[in-house]
Amino acid sequence: MDLFEAILGRRSIRRYLDKPVEEEKILKCLYAATWAPSAHNSQHWNFIVVRELEIRRKLADIHRWGRFMAESPVVIVALGNPLKSSFWREDLGAAVENMLLAAQALGLGTCWMGVADTPYEEEMKKILGVPENLRILCTVSMGYPAERPIRGREQLSRKVHWEKYGVQREIKEPTLTSSS
Ligand SMILES: Cc1cc2nc3c(=O)[nH]c(=O)nc-3n(C[C@H](O)[C@H](O)[C@H](O)COP(=O)(O)O)c2cc1C
Repeated sequence: MDLFEAILGRRSIRRYLDKPVEEEKILKCLYAATWAPSAHNSQHWNFIVVRELEIRRKLADIHRWGRFMAESPVVIVALGNPLKSSFWREDLGAAVENMLLAAQALGLGTCWMGVADTPYEEEMKKILGVPENLRILCTVSMGYPAERPIRGREQLSRKVHWEKYGVQREIKEPTLTSSS
């Protein structure tokens, strides 16, 4: 799949088919994650692959906005190390986005769920045996999609400022293809 197709086609998926995800695909997504940029190329990221239903249920029970982790056949937990890098959130966020786009290219659906600084981060760390020094940035549900949500974006013109903040103008939104 073309990169722009993946970028434009990705949507957060919260309903999944009852169909396992091939381990090879999971590994491809994780490998794509590790090719993200990181400050000083520090790569202080770790990922837990959760497939066991009992553990997914526990995570789903405590994450107020992530109940569907009980239904997605895979949950990836993204861990960063604030003691090793003050840019751990940026590094890990870039890696997670790579993972979401790789999943899209492989026909999988995903949804990013924020965890860091929520009341359930510590509880999740206990469930997953995460060492004290590491943080959970987010969990990502992954599986074959059972929905095709339509969600738009605000106009580019409203987000872009030219030379100084506040200087905006109409923009004809570009067509995203790798050939142009
Ligand atoms: C940092 C972050 C935290 C998010 N947390 C949740 C969450 O807890 N539960 C959820 O269902 N979606 C969550 N999302 C997904 C967003 O709701 C979603 O990306 C947004 O509505 C845009 O929809 P789209 O991803 O389909 O384009 C999160 C996304 C990000 C980037």
